[in-house]
Amino acid sequence: MSLDQISLTRPDDWHLHLRDGPILERVLPATARCFGRAIIMPNLKPPVTTVQQAGDYRDRIVRATPGDSCFEPLMTLYLTDNTPPDEIYRAAECEFIHAVKYYPAGATTHSDSGVTNLGNVAAALAAMQDAGLPLLLHGEVTDLDIDIFDREAVFIKRHLARLIDDFPDLRMVLEHVTTAEAVEFVLAAPAHIGATITAHHLLLNRNAMFEGGLRPHYYCLPIIKREKHRQALIDAATSGSPKFFLGTDSAPHPKHAKESDCGCAGVFSAPVAIELYAEVFESVGALDRLEAFASFHGPDFYGLPRNRDSITLKRQAWCVPESFELGRTNSPDGAAVAIVLRAGTAISWQLADD
Ligand code: DOR
Ligand code: ZN
Repeated sequence: MSLDQISLTRPDDWHLHLRDGPILERVLPATARCFGRAIIMPNLKPPVTTVQQAGDYRDRIVRATPGDSCFEPLMTLYLTDNTPPDEIYRAAECEFIHAVKYYPAGATTHSDSGVTNLGNVAAALAAMQDAGLPLLLHGEVTDLDIDIFDREAVFIKRHLARLIDDFPDLRMVLEHVTTAEAVEFVLAAPAHIGATITAHHLLLNRNAMFEGGLRPHYYCLPIIKREKHRQALIDAATSGSPKFFLGTDSAPHPKHAKESDCGCAGVFSAPVAIELYAEVFESVGALDRLEAFASFHGPDFYGLPRNRDSITLKRQAWCVPESFELGRTNSPDGAAVAIVLRAGTAISWQLADD
């Protein structure tokens, strides 16, 4: 069956980096054009560690939201070794904070204030379990003796089973899963353990990072894995299991910061995200499962209502622009651009204007 258009209940993005300042204003419309809500990552500089900071950041996002959009930011707190349980209880009381994000210190972009040892956050995790606030995991170890391609699998083995044992009622999302081990673990875990999957980890295997030369725009963390893992992710996303839901991890960086001798991790996918998920689902004959993955499983997991309106995707090839204006940044020449996933290539699905 080949459909020329599909309608979906409006989807949400359960893992998004919006940044701050002028970049926020540029990148937010790319998400608000299609997603109803998004879980907003707190890895700003300095990180969003308090309810007050999350509220201020939320105000800046609301101010930057295009007037014709009803986009709702779902805020998160950044967990540190010193997050007081009281702050967790305050966050749980506050209607706009929906989760707390765990970054292992040093694992990725702006994670230097992250957790140095899970033992240091036991009281905060107990408070989250008690108050019903979910924990979002950047599930990688950072030990220098662990190969970068094994960081997620080792995190699962060393820490995740133990975390579930220690905090049996704590809702957790293993973010941006990249391995067959993660899929297997999440499937076998209790119902309150879920996972998000990005479009880029569904589309690319690690060869993409080296195709004809070094491709910095495919560098992200957790790093893209070999083909058998991509296949496991596709199986999970299209399985219909309510444990897996859409989280783009769209993470814009100026082009010059990625094309550098120490380039930043992050794939900027928001302007093409829903279209690329459609492409992946169609490639395995599972377009009929896209709506549940993109629009139902996330709100059901978070205990939020599903969106009531819908979006339409048309089968109409279009070419992704070569670059995306980020506006004023501290780049050497004042203005910066970002490179969108699949820049300069054709995509077969397009979001229809309402
Ligand atoms: O590739 C990534 N980029 N992974 C992360 O965990 C953070 C993100 C970012 O903020 O740029
Ligand atoms: Zn992320």
